[in-house]
Amino acid sequence: MYIMVIIKTKNLSKSFANGGIQNHVLRNIDLEIYDKDFTVIMGNSGSGKSTLLYALSGMDRPTFGEIMLNGHAIEKMKEKELAVMRRANVGFVFQQMHLVSNLTLFENVCVSGYLMKNRKPKEVHDQAEELLKRVGVFNEKDRLPSRVSGGQCQRAAIARALINSPKMIFTDEPTGALNSKIGRQVLNVLTELNQEGQNILMVTHDVKAATRATRIIYLHDGQINGEMTLEPYTPEQEKNRERQILAFLEAKGW
Ligand SMILES: Nc1ncnc2c1ncn2[C@@H]1O[C@H](COP(=O)(O)OP(=O)(O)OP(=O)(O)O)[C@@H](O)[C@H]1O
Ligand SMILES: [Mg+2]
Repeated sequence: MYIMVIIKTKNLSKSFANGGIQNHVLRNIDLEIYDKDFTVIMGNSGSGKSTLLYALSGMDRPTFGEIMLNGHAIEKMKEKELAVMRRANVGFVFQQMHLVSNLTLFENVCVSGYLMKNRKPKEVHDQAEELLKRVGVFNEKDRLPSRVSGGQCQRAAIARALINSPKMIFTDEPTGALNSKIGRQVLNVLTELNQEGQNILMVTHDVKAATRATRIIYLHDGQINGEMTLEPYTPEQEKNRERQILAFLEAKGW
């Protein structure tokens, strides 16, 4: 079977200068991320998960190495070119939602659609409404972020990330600021989107969140140190998946 590769890295490295000392956070990572997967990156705190996610999404630059994202060699791109590429290919969902506080949920979802030269406002509005329905906050669409719950903000943030039909949703601990019930609902939205064909790349330290993965990559000290693949998520299999993932993580010294 032919598997499409959405992201491919070669010798991906990232260092930070720290008082004259180089901190090598990502070390020569060769990685492929496949189409239709719900890929999860796990690893200890400080292992470089967020740094990797920011590099792969073109939010931050590698120190060295190559990154192909949906056919674009992003390490070679100029800032402006990179911003245009991101707008079309990358959706980002943060732990702290980062919605614009003086825009309604609907307006927050529309903003990056307006920035696309080839899109008409009406088309962006229609899609925003559809997405707000899809993630379950259509009734709250005219409220400011401060007037809705954290879970509703995160749903709106997911809709916002989807407005330009990006090739990949990148998300760093999307449930980190939510209680477990609300976090579960947000994970259900992400899982459904993936099962409808949306590529997702998520960083988490939460084993429950990781049960939604079809592939888990384990990062240790800035290098990939193993992976596991899973069948598509079903709620009936969740407990079993959790046990499997825990066994995998424990074997890695997690
Ligand atoms: N902008 C930065 N400047 C300097 N050092 C940084 C920067 N960003 C990350 N680091 C360092 O890189 C290392 C990895 O950080 P990173 O945030 O990627 O880890 P993580 O695996 O996401 O951890 P956590 O699970 O705690 O979120 C840490 O030692 C961190 O201090
Ligand atoms: Mg992190």
